[in-house]
Amino acid sequence: MSLMHRLPDLLRRLPKAFGEGVGRTAVAGGGGGGSVLLSRGSIRHVAFYPVPPLKTAEAVPEMAGMPAAEMPCEPGSAGQTIVFSGVRLDRGGMRTLAGIDLVLGERRIGLLGLNGSGKSSLLKLMVGLLAPTSGSVSIDGLSPMADAAAVRRRTGFLFQSADNQIVYPIVREDLAFGLEGDAEAVAAAIAGALGRLGIGTLAGRRIHELSGGERQLVALAGVMARDPRTILFDEPTSQLDLANRNRLCGVLDGLPQQAVVVTHDLDLVAGFDRVLVVGDGRIVADGDPAEAVAFYRRRYG
Ligand SMILES: Nc1ncnc2c1ncn2[C@@H]1O[C@H](COP(=O)(O)OP(=O)(O)O)[C@@H](O)[C@H]1O
Ligand SMILES: [Mg+2]
Repeated sequence: MSLMHRLPDLLRRLPKAFGEGVGRTAVAGGGGGGSVLLSRGSIRHVAFYPVPPLKTAEAVPEMAGMPAAEMPCEPGSAGQTIVFSGVRLDRGGMRTLAGIDLVLGERRIGLLGLNGSGKSSLLKLMVGLLAPTSGSVSIDGLSPMADAAAVRRRTGFLFQSADNQIVYPIVREDLAFGLEGDAEAVAAAIAGALGRLGIGTLAGRRIHELSGGERQLVALAGVMARDPRTILFDEPTSQLDLANRNRLCGVLDGLPQQAVVVTHDLDLVAGFDRVLVVGDGRIVADGDPAEAVAFYRRRYG
């Protein structure tokens, strides 16, 4: 039975499961999960995951009806539920975001919008690099500001320019920076991350001698070595030539992690589970990639 058919049953169970709050529930046999934002006793937003972002009740029957906070979550398992509740954000004395209510849980999420529309700000709010002026953000029930260390362990951020996150001159030294564990574990994490991206041969190279595309992949390896559940990408292809852009797309396809991707590369989001368009400080479109991209082209093209 599809998730949509189970909607009435799902909604009946929600107030009991979550009360006045936000949460995710799993639906037995539904092949996915759902997120619901409850506020002042009414349902503000419902989102379904056609692709399960985490283990679901289908795979683990005893999880049926279990509130998100109680679901077993193993390190490295894909997916977190990111919730924006009445978020407003002022930057430089100007209103950047004006009332964002969102529950994000899909495996591949795209964010589109014009320059200056607030896309990077949305990503930064998710990991506490910015604090909302009012409203709140949570990620799997944690506050990006108050629980910053835990949130950043579970949530990687790939900046638009790789140079912003590269600290040490040699690739393997840079990747080791901040990794926990003994030397053997650190070496294994680094080799694993470089290997998954097909750039194991770069381990001993000087970073400033690498091409922009290689540097971008090294920065992504640095994020992956920490084994986060979610990776936030800020315009990952904007500085890449076509070959490196295609390589990064291939990498993105195969990533086990949940990914939230800000981009102007409309083809990149074609296979995503959900795409949102940011405009005038709000979410002006939210749907499947074809719908959202068509809206974006109509409105801004
Ligand atoms: N460091 C900053 N100080 C003040 N305002 C900023 C700063 N960075 C961005 N802004 C403003 O915030 C708004 C949103 O920026 P941003 O989230 O970077 O947009 P996008 O990523 O969609 O291009 C823009 O109007 C921009 O001018
Ligand atoms: Mg930006």
